[in-house]
Parts: sequence; structure tokens; C-alpha cells
Amino acid sequence: MKILVYNRKNSEVWTSAVRNAFPDADVRHWVEGDCHDWLADYAVIWQPPAAFFQQQTQLKAVFNQGVGVDSLVSLESLPADLPVFKLRGVGMEEYMSDYVTYGLLHFYRDFDLYRQHQSDKQWQPHRIAQKSDWTVGILGLGVIGKAVAEAVSHLGFPVIGWSRSEKTVQGVNCVSGKEGLDHLLRESRVLVSLLPSTPSTHKLLNQETLTKLPEGGVLINGGRGDVIDIEALQVLLKSGHMRGAMLDVFEKEPLEDSHPFWNNSKVMITPHIAAPTPVAQALEQIVADIALIEQGEMPPAIDKSLGY
Ligand code: GLV
Repeated sequence: MKILVYNRKNSEVWTSAVRNAFPDADVRHWVEGDCHDWLADYAVIWQPPAAFFQQQTQLKAVFNQGVGVDSLVSLESLPADLPVFKLRGVGMEEYMSDYVTYGLLHFYRDFDLYRQHQSDKQWQPHRIAQKSDWTVGILGLGVIGKAVAEAVSHLGFPVIGWSRSEKTVQGVNCVSGKEGLDHLLRESRVLVSLLPSTPSTHKLLNQETLTKLPEGGVLINGGRGDVIDIEALQVLLKSGHMRGAMLDVFEKEPLEDSHPFWNNSKVMITPHIAAPTPVAQALEQIVADIALIEQGEMPPAIDKSLGY
């Protein structure tokens, strides 16, 4: 079996992990311009350039090294009939739950205010709010969104979850469609976006939709940056309609030096670290998926037309 790996920044980590997981396979790392006559059966990749699929014409399946497949499905060279598999959690749901919990508690327990008070040398306690007044709205109820919704619900916060097709999650008020989104926005003190980047989520959170949040609303984005109209967010933070934001992802990463959010005390910025891929666990899924394919079965592939 021939497996081709591509990860521009972490080529060694991924290539040696794939070699360990498939000791009998011929495993190589793809370099643009190389491997012309070496055609792989499987690809384990992250954000390959378009040339990858122009050269690799014998692939039986592609495994994405992350959950989000936006950088793959946007490639015109990706053959329509080539099955693509994304990671289905593999522990990233726990990382994301921790990240969102941190952000939620930061604002709910007024740590944003206490940071400000400390720099002003101000000793000023605030009354602790009722959790029942802090509804958390979660956009996206895939493996990760569902785990986050359950974690936040276990903490005692009311949770509304929105997804394209209606889901059922224990302890979560699940909604869908335009009306469901409207309801979620009007009720949520904390809005958590875990949405993928697709044509229908692009700038979904804009001036009009974010204004529907109650006064003092908070945004946590652990999904994809282009779901948010960042200028609209900036305006709503400035006007005070929104209290703060914790942002892990941006339309263009790294966030440019000149961006005003770096110096905005209402915004917490992290460098796309909310839920990194645990490589060993990812390979457990990929090994199991390839074993199924080799037996003639099909693990759940992404739907390219939906983009996730
Ligand atoms: C990270 O952003 C991922 O898509 O896994």
C-alpha cells in the first residue's frame, strides 16, 4: 500500500506517525514537483496545494488531518468522486469543550472586569449572576459542537444548539433553520460559533445577526474566522452592545499586526489552538477507516456539496 502525506509545517511529525501506524506501507511526504510517477493509494493531508490532486490521480481516498475540510473542498482539482474523510472528534471535542468553558467562565464570573480593575488598582467585587440568566447558544452541532453543548449544560447553563438539520442532544434545546437561529441569537448571552466555513456560513454573524444578541452579549469563535464579519463585531464591541469576544480563528491567519483587535481589551485572541489535532488518536481513526475501505466498506465520508 502506498500512502502519501502532506503537511507543510509538520511534515516530519505526520510522516513518521503514518509510518508507525502503517509499518508495511510505503509512506512518503509529498513535495511539489516530486513523485510524478509514484502514485499513492491513500493521502493523509492538511491544506495541500492544487497541484497535489493534479499529480495524484490514483487515490482511493483522502484523509484530512483536521476536522475542517474547507481548504480541501475549495480546491477545484479535488476530484468530485474521490471520497474525503475528516477527523470525527478523536479527542478534539474535549479540547474545544475546555476552551469554550474557559471563555464562558471568564465572562460569566467577570474576569474581564477584574482584569481591568487590577490595572486600575481597583478593589471592586461584583455580584455573581444566576447561571439561568446566561443562556449559551452554540452554532454547529457536529461531534465537537455536541460535546461542547453537553459540557456547558453540565456546568448548569441553559443551552440552545443550532444546526442545519435538526439534532437531538440531551439537556440542549436544539433548533434549526432561520427561525431557530433567530431564537438562539435573541436568547443567548454567550454565542459560541463552531461552524465550518462553507458558502452558507460565510459572514453569517454580521451586523444584523449579532445585533440580535441581548445587550452585553459575548462571542466565542472556535470554528472558522470567515463566519464572522469582524468589522461588524468591532462596531458592536465599541458601541457596548457586545461585552467581549474570545477568538481563536480568523479569516486570514496569522491575524495581521495592524489589526486593532490586538490592542482591544475586550477581545481575547488565541492563535488557532482551541482544538489541535492529537496525531496518535487521529491515526487510530485513519487506520480503522482504511481497514474498512480495504474490506470494501465505506466509513462516513464528507459531503462535498455541504462542505463538511
Ligand atoms: C482545525 O481547525 C481543524 O479543522 O481541525
